[in-house]
Amino acid sequence: MFVRRIAVIGAGYVGLTTGACLASLGHRVVCADVDAAKIARLRDGDVDILEPGLPELVAEGMAAGRLSFVLGAREAIAPVGAVEEPVEVVFLCVPTPMGEGGAADLAAVEAVAHEVRDLLPRGCVVVNKSTVPVGTAARTRQLLGRRDVAVVSNPEFLREGSAVHDFLNPDRIVVGCDQQDAAERVAALYSRLGAPTLLTDAASSELVKYAANCFLAMKLSYVNAMAELCERLGADVGEVTEGMGYDRRIGQAFLKPGPGWGGSCLPKDTHALMQISDAAGFEFPLLDASLQTNQRQSGRMVAKVRAAVGGSLAGKRIGLLGLTFKAGTDDLRDSPALAVAAGLRAEGAELTGFDPGCPAPVAGLTDGVAVADDVMAAAKDADAIVVLTEWPEFRALDWPALARVAANRTVVDTRNLLDPDVLRRAGFSWVGVGSR
Ligand code: NAD
Ligand code: UGA
Repeated sequence: MFVRRIAVIGAGYVGLTTGACLASLGHRVVCADVDAAKIARLRDGDVDILEPGLPELVAEGMAAGRLSFVLGAREAIAPVGAVEEPVEVVFLCVPTPMGEGGAADLAAVEAVAHEVRDLLPRGCVVVNKSTVPVGTAARTRQLLGRRDVAVVSNPEFLREGSAVHDFLNPDRIVVGCDQQDAAERVAALYSRLGAPTLLTDAASSELVKYAANCFLAMKLSYVNAMAELCERLGADVGEVTEGMGYDRRIGQAFLKPGPGWGGSCLPKDTHALMQISDAAGFEFPLLDASLQTNQRQSGRMVAKVRAAVGGSLAGKRIGLLGLTFKAGTDDLRDSPALAVAAGLRAEGAELTGFDPGCPAPVAGLTDGVAVADDVMAAAKDADAIVVLTEWPEFRALDWPALARVAANRTVVDTRNLLDPDVLRRAGFSWVGVGSR
């Protein structure tokens, strides 16, 4: 295996995982970020996101001298007083949030391209790992204005909460570039992982990422719609999805109904693909319906809680179990739990929430929710307890103890996480999603 000198620009969930994992595969990696406080913490070995295995990999990489952190892309690519070999591969792992009209905002990608274009060593490869619309590789190449620098699309498919595992055990590697040698150079970085590798053109590679995320979003909207239908027909969505999932063409994964799908990617990527389709003059009602189904979910959950507390939420104390967008992460971005919380709050409910991944309030995200540091405080005097995130530890709570502190023994379980029999034995009424 060739050991490459790699720069990773953006040290968030994707960039830090990419940097630490590539270092663990033997490459020499420098990670850059514009956030000076984050870089200072990382240099002290302090990883500020919840990702199993990541702090250990970062520590190992730093101790082996294969992983370092610098402030700003410029310092990663053309360090002052450099004695090291020049970088050969530059990964862009910067944010591409939802911009105007739902389109991906490419400001960070463009800012980095602008910053590094005159600094890139001759013949190096720029790899876009951020999720970007079709045509961005070509546009980046234009912005760089360097005939000697290839731009490669290499989308990332890791999930938050299992980022290291997913990076090191990928279902596939996708590399898109019209220059075969650059594509092969990037694919070779992952050769030790033994994953199926698709070498394709840049446009197809860029579209694979949206196609995959949007398919997952559609699958979940289908399940959430099926749950609603189950409620009307007296069927049980757990039984229905189990029966569907044994079909290997469907599979059991990604079939759990909930308060809607969220997070920093599925929502923005579905909006972006709608916008990409629009711009191409293509109507995509299937995708549009998935978005609309998802937008209705939080309202459906609020209605369940309203009914459970007797028809009005005004002045009712509601204990929320879970605030993050899914279990196993500390990420609150576009969390369906917070959308439900906002709906409850708008009808006058008083909210106290507990989340194992979010021990303290986060300005601009948890506003209107008193964030408790233990579950008993969230349940105290509650007119209803609402499960919003599927943290497995909620299943094992001392429900008889919660029954003693709650004002009413009512649980609305938007994730169908809890065992209704355990709840009923503790004296609670239990309302789930898509059940009789
Ligand atoms: P993030 O917000 O966690 O991290 C991005 C980092 O980039 C931040 O630390 C930010 O300070 C830094 N940054 C911003 N502008 C910069 C600049 N000009 N120079 C250097 N650093 C800069 O974002 P993320 O979740 O890692 O996502 C990054 C990209 O990867 C997005 O396009 C996203 O859609 C995609 N993606 C994310 C995931 C995921 O699970 N989070 C998975 C696959 C793909
Ligand atoms: C998702 C994709 O799964 C990754 O492959 C992709 O790389 C990533 O987006 C990205 O592009 O950023 P992630 O955002 O970490 O990963 O979250 P998921 O695990 O996909 O969950 C998304 C949402 O769907 C969450 O709100 C989750 O609770 C919900 N979900 C998931 C369900 O409601 N039911 C399920 O069965 C599965």
